Amino acid sequence: MKITIIGAGYVGLVQAVCLADFGFNVICIEKDTEKLRDLKFGKIPFYEPGLEDLFRKNLKSNRLNFTNEFSENISTSDVIFICVGTPPKKNGESNLSFVDQVSKDISKKIKGYTVVVSKSTVPVGTSKRIENSLKKNNSIKSFDVVSNPEFLREGAAINDFMRPDKIIIGCRTKKAEKILKKIYKKLKRPYVVTNNETAEIIKYANNSFLATKITFINEIADLCENIGAEVETVAKAIGLDGRIGAKFLHPGPGYGGSCFPKDVKSLIYQGNKNSTDLKIAKAVDRANDLRVKSLFQRVKKITKNKFNNIQICILGISFKPETDDVRESPGIKLARDIGKTKAKIKIYDPQGMKNAKKELSKSIEFCNDEYEALKNTNLLIIVTEWNQFKNLDLLKVKKLMKKPVILDLRNIYSKDIVKLGFQYHSIGNN
Ligand code: UDX
Repeated sequence: MKITIIGAGYVGLVQAVCLADFGFNVICIEKDTEKLRDLKFGKIPFYEPGLEDLFRKNLKSNRLNFTNEFSENISTSDVIFICVGTPPKKNGESNLSFVDQVSKDISKKIKGYTVVVSKSTVPVGTSKRIENSLKKNNSIKSFDVVSNPEFLREGAAINDFMRPDKIIIGCRTKKAEKILKKIYKKLKRPYVVTNNETAEIIKYANNSFLATKITFINEIADLCENIGAEVETVAKAIGLDGRIGAKFLHPGPGYGGSCFPKDVKSLIYQGNKNSTDLKIAKAVDRANDLRVKSLFQRVKKITKNKFNNIQICILGISFKPETDDVRESPGIKLARDIGKTKAKIKIYDPQGMKNAKKELSKSIEFCNDEYEALKNTNLLIIVTEWNQFKNLDLLKVKKLMKKPVILDLRNIYSKDIVKLGFQYHSIGNN
């Protein structure tokens, strides 16, 4: 079986490397020449723990090849995974121009029965759209379109690929279902086999529910701050209810990344387009959009709205640990808000600095490590919970800072550090 992956991004590259690791011959088509050159020379274009080793191992075994050659590969493929981007438009609608272009290109080149798999997160009805595009240039029905959404978390993508909770297969024929099950056979995980439309909405419902859980605990945290309660204890207690579950109840600066914000907005758009007012999704989206702004008010309160001649240290710019991705990152948003004051900002992130420099003003000091970022600062704001920030040498931190004040947006410390002479502020405690 020849498998072709179109797009070597966060989803496509993980899909290509892991399927090659299963023993399949995989061709990955990437049109970005710089990215393609790096891949051919064994370099992956983003940080993802464990991916580089698995990538190099399969590159060496020659089961994994990268190219920008489209026609020959498409016409000889048995299965094609579409893993191109579906970035959000301003109104929340998913931009399907890359999916449309790829579907059109595929339709001209497929020969013989081919399974075309939509792996990208796409709105309901996209499989139909791909089918119609393929039909335009194919009189005989020589293909099936399958919706097979992924649930990979950045920073845990390999684990999530190799140990998925479920495998979703949306298709219209047994033939296509059998081929997808053959590909994922080694995983031995539960399948949910359904029609394309149901598979497409499962992805949005899954992500939007997780975003709702996070936003709910963030809202409870705000209440806890005003009633003298402890949000971590509330989260632990409700998480012990088997119907709720403990995961995704960590309060923080709001969800970021390239998925949750985009997927919640897309779900709202799809609801509006299909005469369904998704009130909860709209409330989650609005609450999350406002969260960093409300945390900036906390910063103003702590500094008594005095920003002249003070330096503020931000630790953590990537949207979550174990990734270099700063898309929709609360750290970026907060740095921009503080950047509008006269305060000087110093930042450090273990992986996100290169991407942060593309997003933030040059007036910010990009430091080489957390202690350099802390030197002579009046306030430390912890935004991303990298493990190395959980084991700071607090006595050294206290000596380095001009004023030992910490705003811990991930509750990685506790008010015990007050005993070391720190002024400590956290989320969901007062
Ligand atoms: C998410 C989904 O988890 C994954 O299944 C899907 O395929 C892609 O989108 P990802 O965006 O990589 O994955 O990261 P995730 O770990 O889900 O975190 C998303 C955001 O929520 C991050 O900003 C994170 O900081 C935040 N978060 C997560 C919380 O604030 N609290 C939590 O308890 C969990």
